[in-house]
Amino acid sequence: MEKLLITIDGPAGSGKSTISRLLARHLNYKYIDTGALYRGIAFETVSHKIDPDDEPQLNGLLERIDLGFEMTEKGLRLMSNGRDITGQIRSPEISMMASRVSAKPRVREKLFSLQKKLGKEKGAVFEGRDMGTVVFPEADVKFFLVASVEERAKRRFLEMGDPPSQTLEEVARDIQKRDEDDSNRKIAPLKAAPDATTIDTTSLDIHAVLGKMIDVVRSVLQEK
Ligand code: DC
Repeated sequence: MEKLLITIDGPAGSGKSTISRLLARHLNYKYIDTGALYRGIAFETVSHKIDPDDEPQLNGLLERIDLGFEMTEKGLRLMSNGRDITGQIRSPEISMMASRVSAKPRVREKLFSLQKKLGKEKGAVFEGRDMGTVVFPEADVKFFLVASVEERAKRRFLEMGDPPSQTLEEVARDIQKRDEDDSNRKIAPLKAAPDATTIDTTSLDIHAVLGKMIDVVRSVLQEK
């Protein structure tokens, strides 16, 4: 059967990661979490105490880092210059820095080419913010997931360990700030591609969302 390139975009906490992983598993496709790449750059920026607004420093860092995914016995890992940084990219500090560095043109350029390389082979689900609009406008199937801020904050809060590192109010505030920054930046802002199927996940459970997506994928495959 023909293999497709599928994109899933949407704001933080819209259910993208869980759903993308499940959809990729269901179809036996590769799953590419592009937010992890922005987080990888954010992690290196913080580790090297670089001010992301200091262009020469940030550009120097970008030339030195080699990011990629590697399949190991622990699952899919994010590697930076051969070092596994998967466990270090999910903190609130890295989330905010990822949003900041993602507004920098050189960061987006670097990751654009990396993502294009990863997408050369079809049979992949790419999850991010600008997959269907900028990186893969030619994708076979595009989804855009949305959910209310309250619901997204609740999901992120429940994912945190015990004790949680932030209060529910702090999570909601960070999500709102990131939404604003991600949606209003000049390059590759967060928005649905005109040909994307938008799904509001606020009151749907994961399996209902997955079911809707599988229906769309199936009908595209039938047309091919
Ligand atoms: O999906 P995430 O929360 O892991 O993404 C982290 C940040 O990276 C997010 O604030 C926006 C940015 N990002 C982006 O600009 N483009 C993408 N394709 C993926 C993520």
